[in-house]
Amino acid sequence: MNRERLSQPIAEGESVILLDPEDDKEFFYKMRAKGHIDLHKGKILHAEVIGKPEGAVVRTSRGDPFLVFRPTLLQYIMHMKRETQIIYPKDLALILFYADIHPGCTCLEAGIGSGSLTLALLRGVGPDGRVISYEVREEFIERARKNIQLLLGESTNLEIKQRDIYEGIEEQGIDRIILDIPEPWRVVKDAAERLRPGGIFTSYLPTIIQVKTLVDALQEEKRFTSIQAFEALLRDWHIEGLSVRPCHRMVAHTGFITLARKGDSP
Ligand SMILES: C[S@@+](CC[C@H](N)C(=O)[O-])C[C@H]1O[C@@H](n2cnc3c(N)ncnc32)[C@H](O)[C@@H]1O
Repeated sequence: MNRERLSQPIAEGESVILLDPEDDKEFFYKMRAKGHIDLHKGKILHAEVIGKPEGAVVRTSRGDPFLVFRPTLLQYIMHMKRETQIIYPKDLALILFYADIHPGCTCLEAGIGSGSLTLALLRGVGPDGRVISYEVREEFIERARKNIQLLLGESTNLEIKQRDIYEGIEEQGIDRIILDIPEPWRVVKDAAERLRPGGIFTSYLPTIIQVKTLVDALQEEKRFTSIQAFEALLRDWHIEGLSVRPCHRMVAHTGFITLARKGDSP
């Protein structure tokens, strides 16, 4: 969303976060002129929200306050509809930086799933970059398309192909390949052909057995170097008065990130 739009009031058709300031609980809705929201603290008419600037207070029929915000990309991803497992924001953040996804670059991903990674890649490559997404299942393509469209409208720099990546990559000279599929080692040889020299291969996998199989394949393919695998544990802290400690609950495991860089074989 451009700067000018961000300074405008909330419009019909936009998604918003309604935040209960009492407990920071978030509710996510798309605004329609005649819609309404039934919350545990009463009803809010969409018409009350449409036309408000971000950060404004709206009140329920019982008079309780809620704050209106446009969702951040993180909030949007956490609230959007899913039909697959998604890559979570803590891992997306690391993928964007470690794989050096930058404005103007061309990324190829598989599979699109619910579109979480795709949204992060589109943010990273910007309007001058390009994202090509391979996905085998039509219903997931539809889900991802809807999720991406609701946030970004039409994305002219996104190309979705209903295609099995194990059958080969069509594009040449790609800057980045990012895989969220069960057997990425089956793509290693083709990725070495299709990435440009200096290009980066990235994979996201839930189990360490898969990571080991992938790293073996990357090491065998002599054109890959700087092979690296890690996971990220994010621990929130509870800070209230003298109670300053890690939160009792955390998501202990999501997935492993594996990276490799393409050069000439030594
Ligand atoms: C875990 S989901 C991906 C989630 C997605 N990265 C996200 O963040 O929303 C895995 C996806 O890979 C797709 N897939 C599995 N094997 C594939 C293949 N060989 N080629 C293309 N897509 C594939 C599946 O249909 C599924 O949609």
